[in-house]
Formats: sequence, structure tokens, C-alpha cells
Amino acid sequence: MPIPKLVGIVGNNAPFSYNRILLQYMSRHFHKQANLEVSEIDDIPLFNERDMKQIPVAVKSLSDKIKNADGVIIATPEYDHAIPASLKSTIEWLSVDEHALTTKPVMVVGASIGVQGTARAQDNLRQILNSPGVNSFVLPGFEFLLNNAKAKFDADGQLTDDSTESFLTECVNHFITFVGDTKRNFASV
Ligand SMILES: Cc1cc2nc3c(=O)[nH]c(=O)nc-3n(C[C@H](O)[C@H](O)[C@H](O)COP(=O)(O)O)c2cc1C
Repeated sequence: MPIPKLVGIVGNNAPFSYNRILLQYMSRHFHKQANLEVSEIDDIPLFNERDMKQIPVAVKSLSDKIKNADGVIIATPEYDHAIPASLKSTIEWLSVDEHALTTKPVMVVGASIGVQGTARAQDNLRQILNSPGVNSFVLPGFEFLLNNAKAKFDADGQLTDDSTESFLTECVNHFITFVGDTKRNFASV
């Protein structure tokens, strides 16, 4: 069995992002279990319904990557108790352009510098992913929330905390099983 092909979406357009560091770490650390390509949203323009017939190249490119992948991992920051506007805008584009996230297995993770580790943003993202235009298959449970992100990575972007690493491994293993099960059960959806 080939390992699953996954797209990791950095849920921020900022040049520095702990969520980017998290996905880059996951791509390295789990390279034997999955081929995780880290993708950016910084070149995606703000969604505007008036322009939705002209899909920007960056949206098309992300949409194609998602369609060709077995699953998606979205790493969301938390801004004002919700996902960043740049991530919401990206999902709005994806919900009008070919619906690439529809029936796609999606895992939600997030890192923040505060103590609550993106809990509210992850709830917000799960609700968005369940909307009729998006309709993703979101991994239930296994909520990976990375709080105090500044202290949790060393200078090489490696996780410094063994229990965090071991819980992340558990979550990723469940997601890989979920991706396989979804593919087998919903191949024709
Ligand atoms: C406008 C703004 C709002 C924020 N709101 C929250 C928040 O509601 N909860 C939280 O835990 N952190 C909040 N933060 C701090 C972010 O967790 C922090 O900037 C984090 O590094 C963002 O993720 P990133 O590093 O992946 O970009 C906020 C930061 C900004 C700039």
C-alpha cells in the first residue's frame, strides 16, 4: 500500500507562523507514514463574490493539489477567537471553485502562543468545514491543540515536549486510518 498523499494548509498569510512550523515539523516527522506537502495561502486574494467566475491562479493551484490528495491537514492560528480572515477567504474560494474540500478527509490542528491553543478557532473551523458549500469529512475527536507555541519548538523547529509529540503521533495515526477508511467507503461519493 502506498503512503497517503496529504496537503497541509498553513492557515495564515504571515511570513512567520508557528502553524507553518508545526506543519513543516509534521511533514518531516511523519514522512514514513505520509507524504505531506505544506501549502501556503499568502498569494490568495481576498474573496469577493463579484469576481468568483474568474478563479485566481493561486486558488486553482491549491484546489488542484487538494483534489489530487488523499487528505488535507489544516493548521489554523486563532485570531479574535476565530480562524484568520486569510484562511476563511481561502475556504470561501474553495467553496465556489470545484468544491475541492467536498468529501475530502480533513484533520484540524492549530498552534497559538496563548494557553488555550486555538480551541475556539478549531471549533470555528470545524463548523465552516461542515457547511453545505464545503462538506468535508472532518476527523472526529483527536483535537491537536498546541498552546504556548513559543516554548514548544526549538530553534530547528523540533517539538520540545515528548507528551505533545506522542499525542500528535496518535492523532496523525488515527487520521491516516480515517483517510484510508473514507477512501474505501466513499470512493463513489
Ligand atoms: C489580531 C490577533 C488576534 C489574536 N487573537 C488570539 C486569540 O483570540 N486567541 C489566541 O490564543 N491567540 C490570539 N492571538 C495570538 C496568536 O495566537 C499568535 O499571533 C499566533 O502566533 C498566530 O499563529 P501563527 O504564529 O501561526 O501565525 C492573536 C493575534 C493577533 C495578531
